[in-house]
Amino acid sequence: MTTVIDGKQVAASVIDAVKTASQVLTEQTGVKTGLAVVIVGNDPASHAYVSSKSKMAKECGFTSVQHTLPEETTQEELAALVQTLNTDETLHGILVQLPLPKHFNSEAIVQSILPEKDVDGLHVVNAGKLATGDLDGGLVSCTPAGAMVFVKRTHGEDLSGLNAVVIGRSNLFGKPMAQLLLAANATVTIAHSRTKDLAAVCRNADILVAAVGRPEMVKADWVKPGATVIDVGINRIAAPEKGEGKSRLVGDVAFEECAKVAAVITPVPGGVGPMTIAMLMANTVIAAYRKAGRTAPKF
Ligand code: GUN
Repeated sequence: MTTVIDGKQVAASVIDAVKTASQVLTEQTGVKTGLAVVIVGNDPASHAYVSSKSKMAKECGFTSVQHTLPEETTQEELAALVQTLNTDETLHGILVQLPLPKHFNSEAIVQSILPEKDVDGLHVVNAGKLATGDLDGGLVSCTPAGAMVFVKRTHGEDLSGLNAVVIGRSNLFGKPMAQLLLAANATVTIAHSRTKDLAAVCRNADILVAAVGRPEMVKADWVKPGATVIDVGINRIAAPEKGEGKSRLVGDVAFEECAKVAAVITPVPGGVGPMTIAMLMANTVIAAYRKAGRTAPKF
């Protein structure tokens, strides 16, 4: 029997643990966890993501601050806001929603967030800590952290002897995911668009993680029988069967056929997606614990 991971359920369990951790911190130290979310411009999808982040922060009992800035905001104005948030003692996490409008130097903004408040895990200090195996000192990017929760709930903390293949080499996902798997003792291959015979590389994977952004690219004969398959792709494709002009979301994995071969698989939607916000909340409460000089909880 194939297990289809219910990302909503796992995310809800992480959120429960975050709520408890934030309550305990307040009881013991008087500190209320705080998250600031910044959005610039009018992209409707980004506004929807940011609203759900702010709402979830409130649900977790956090101080939740949202800054909604107009499209015409300048680099200097946004940089000044980040500086204000950096020095605000009531805020433990800062997230600037990406992508920023085209006229911004996004990287400069991201790198100006204090590493200890960088709940997106995008600052080079956090990327560097992960790369050197310092998992307890930095903050890990939310989507790979969420995917890793699935891997650990399936295989335990120690992945010794298991082959993991990550398809995709982005700074946002592929590289941090590979480093998390490596830190857990998996034997890790990072594959990408230039990899020779990708199917054969993937067939060697006990844990296969797909993050390429190509709808349903991973086929059943790429999957090792009994493997764990984590699908990080979110692709909108035409769905004429639902009516003219309709669309649906699919992952990077051809779910129906791969589910017949894998032992454990994540669906799209409802797999990794819900975990991203949950891990953002987890990172924020972790940052608050550290700031208060307390040992941070693990999720
Ligand atoms: N836009 C889409 N995903 C993300 C994310 O994880 N963090 C930020 N800051 N922006 C995003």
